[in-house]
Amino acid sequence: MDPFAIIRKYYDPGSLSETILSEHSTLVMEKALKIAEHVTFMNPDMTFIREAALLHDIGIFLTYAPVLGCFGDRDYICHGYLGRKLLEDEGLPVHGLVCERHVGVGIAEADIEKQNLPLPKRDMLPITLEEKIICYADKFHSKKSGSPQPEASLVEVRKNISTYGPEKVLKFDILHMLFSR
Ligand SMILES: [Fe+2]
Repeated sequence: MDPFAIIRKYYDPGSLSETILSEHSTLVMEKALKIAEHVTFMNPDMTFIREAALLHDIGIFLTYAPVLGCFGDRDYICHGYLGRKLLEDEGLPVHGLVCERHVGVGIAEADIEKQNLPLPKRDMLPITLEEKIICYADKFHSKKSGSPQPEASLVEVRKNISTYGPEKVLKFDILHMLFSR
């Protein structure tokens, strides 16, 4: 399976959205594979991590995020579950779960209800090792146009997550304990 062939089906090569998506996804893939190499005793599926990390944000073009060159009609927070649906249609349902479960440190059904988020009401939490590794790796790389951004520091990542509440930082810290060896 060639993740970049799937990206090219939905993104014009060289467009702003394709450039940002490909750069970001490649950085997340590299970070995720590095983490996986440190936890080989947990038996991570390296091929799956490579593919799913490259595809985890495939849904962004369906959302309205002009700064990313995306002009869809859905809220940005929807990019995860929309990406899941897209990959299910591509015959990649397990990769699709990574899309749905990587946003923030995962979104619980209770969060969706409490904050009235425009999402289907179900838990969207990383469950498998591979889902957790990609979710964690993603937090170190923002999506920005221009030259590739350096990896965020742990302090910066925790500060970003803290805007969503202390319980989210705790969830991130648990992932950090698992993967920062
Ligand atoms: Fe991402």
